[in-house]
Amino acid sequence: MANIRNDERDASVFALYEQLVEIEERLIPTGLHVFGRPSSTTEKADLLKMVASFDRPEAGARALPEALVGDAVRVFLSNGTEAAVTFLEQKGLTPEATRPVFDLLETVCTKLESNHEIDSLLRSLRGEYIEPGPGADIIQNPDILPTGRNTHAINPYGVPSAVAFARGETVANSLLDRYKTENGRYPEAMALVLWGLDNIKTQGEGVAQALWLLGTRPVRDALNRTTAVEAIPLAELGRPRIDLVMTVSGIFRDLFSPTVQLLDKAVRLVAQLDEPLELNYVRKHVLQQIEQEGSDIDEAAVRVFSNAPGNYGTNVNFMVMDSQWEREETLGDLFVTRKCFAYGRDSKGRSIEGREARMAMDRALARVEATYQNIDTFEIGLTDVDHYFEYLGGVSKAVEKRARARPAIYLSDSLSREVKIRSLEETVRLESRAKTLNPKWYEGMLKHGFRGVAEIENHVSNTFGWSATADAVDDWIYSEVANTFLFDESMLERLRDLNPHSAHSLAQRLLEANGRGYWDVEQDVLDRLREISRDLEDQLEGVI
Ligand code: BEZ
Ligand code: MG
Repeated sequence: MANIRNDERDASVFALYEQLVEIEERLIPTGLHVFGRPSSTTEKADLLKMVASFDRPEAGARALPEALVGDAVRVFLSNGTEAAVTFLEQKGLTPEATRPVFDLLETVCTKLESNHEIDSLLRSLRGEYIEPGPGADIIQNPDILPTGRNTHAINPYGVPSAVAFARGETVANSLLDRYKTENGRYPEAMALVLWGLDNIKTQGEGVAQALWLLGTRPVRDALNRTTAVEAIPLAELGRPRIDLVMTVSGIFRDLFSPTVQLLDKAVRLVAQLDEPLELNYVRKHVLQQIEQEGSDIDEAAVRVFSNAPGNYGTNVNFMVMDSQWEREETLGDLFVTRKCFAYGRDSKGRSIEGREARMAMDRALARVEATYQNIDTFEIGLTDVDHYFEYLGGVSKAVEKRARARPAIYLSDSLSREVKIRSLEETVRLESRAKTLNPKWYEGMLKHGFRGVAEIENHVSNTFGWSATADAVDDWIYSEVANTFLFDESMLERLRDLNPHSAHSLAQRLLEANGRGYWDVEQDVLDRLREISRDLEDQLEGVI
């Protein structure tokens, strides 16, 4: 440290500052949604700020400048549209430019105050008609309000939308730039996770990213349906076409059947382009497999995988949650067992809906150098649900064994104004700081009593899922979880009173993290944890 140069010191301080701002600005849900209850005032202000931070071409509204949006929304909430327009006029923005934003916020505000959830539930139980409404993230599409309607998806033939395709380019480029910066070259093959609900919410951002990585664009037919793709010329693309393994959820397979066909078509199109192999990794790998293994084109070009027809999920989450595994590679193998069913069409145009193709998947995964999933909502992130680690963690572990190297694992944050690509480790750190270890988040959860403690325990278990599938959790995260929730006596008391079951599971999960080699910690910490766990167990036995 003594010899550190001034410019290095300044760069480190700046990097630290940027990280702090990133954590501070991260939007987090500060409590669970209570069915039937409209948003509180603070919740409303936060949502309106986000709504006003994005361009809304459909409402004729431009995003408010970042530096003014908070104040403008405060003025709007206390004194109305005209006051907010005047406030921004004093800052040099014309009323013509800003009024459409507040017209939109007025509509959003009114709809946030009306909530038909309970009424609609009762009506649906009586078999009555429930008005439909789009399903999306409120910030992506404020038209989802009011809640309590019958959610409908989107027309799969409209996917990806023009906006999604434009955003897809930025994300795909940032992702490849990041890999190239870290590895000095492009990845030859990547594995992507595609989910149904996410692609409904974003009108196909994940699909668009896949098409961009392959270097293709969607083509609409005479009925304006996206039924074909064309290749973007290499000169325009300016980089190699990346080979992909697309593991899609059962929900995606069911909802986006035309899109599954489109992705498969894109791979087959690219595989057949007469291009230099160092600029077309799909072709390179397909030809390699045909030459070296005697596969035919149909075997060698399979890239879209999902569950067997009628099946959903990877079960990796259940195996981790129940601690029912000994070797990590079992988790990756389970992922492949569940997801090795190919979808698309063969070269003769015959459907291969759900044909078991374990060998083809093993081969394709063996070439993967990076894995990736798009995150599109601030409400549900890496540690909120067990689905991210079952999918992205599951496929990464499967790659690790088959490629004999751990892939680089990335996530994107396509919700923020600027697209941000983070490594898995960075995302786990950010989520742990912004949520699990953030008093604003856990106090919000604890207001929900029993369920809130269960949510905290879920977050810790989901974090553990990232150790099991990708060894992506730093020791300090487990140490801070122990300090925050178990070694703080008054906190332990609260958890014990509200939900001793979850408190006990939390202690056990930390012990498991140590037992499996994911948390290197002193013996006295473990002794304390064991004691706490035993006390909680005694208490539970007393209850039973
Ligand atoms: C999906 O939307 O595809 C999905 C939702 C929850 C878990 C996994 C996938
Ligand atoms: Mg470690």
